[in-house]
Amino acid sequence: TQVIGLIGAMDEEVELLLGQLENKVTTVKAGVTYASGTLHGKQVVVCKSGVGKVNAAVTTQILIDSFGVSKILFTGVAGALHPDLNIGDIVISSSCMQHDMDVTPLGFARGMIPYQEVSDFPADQSLIELAEEACKELSVDHYVIGKVLSGDQFIASRETVQTLYEDLNGACAEMEGSAVAQVCYMNHVPYVVIRSMSDKADGSAHVNFPEFTVKASRRSHEIVNYMLGRL
Ligand code: ADE
Repeated sequence: TQVIGLIGAMDEEVELLLGQLENKVTTVKAGVTYASGTLHGKQVVVCKSGVGKVNAAVTTQILIDSFGVSKILFTGVAGALHPDLNIGDIVISSSCMQHDMDVTPLGFARGMIPYQEVSDFPADQSLIELAEEACKELSVDHYVIGKVLSGDQFIASRETVQTLYEDLNGACAEMEGSAVAQVCYMNHVPYVVIRSMSDKADGSAHVNFPEFTVKASRRSHEIVNYMLGRL
């Protein structure tokens, strides 16, 4: 039977999944707790990776090697880059790229990983379609299927938002998706990232980040929950 890996970076992003998990068994590896169990009758492993690309990469590889997951869904919050996106709105990853990969002094385009064919890692088409179905069925007023940009930076300025949107065509900015995507690509494991907007990445996040993070995490969780029922 297939095992589905579910990752979030922060407590708020995984606690709803953990609360629903049946027959829970936990294992700790490299400081991360992996909770195996069933959700909607599906075998899943839920984990909180911690923030940033290294945490996300290690967690993803462990999910693949030690837990044999055959699909990975990432749930969480992000800063909006697309001008039409407001707090609470959803981004379904069409692909993920690292905005902080910068070897431009050697002539590589921003975000391009040198000497590698792919730097913008495509998400799985059927997972994208299922996420879109979830948005429609759950009457999410606004969602975008677009490029998720990741970097080890909390984006907090209008200027950065503009360059990430205009130069790299990012729909939202977060800190893990591309690491998950790259590890999935390297291991031929399908993935999708679902992000609900907690802020507009413009420097105002500190005012209400905790509050919006809880709300946005709930939104993203609803979609993943719907998807699990149909995988
Ligand atoms: N996650 C949520 N908001 C973010 C932002 N503005 N930048 C990076 N990651 C985020």
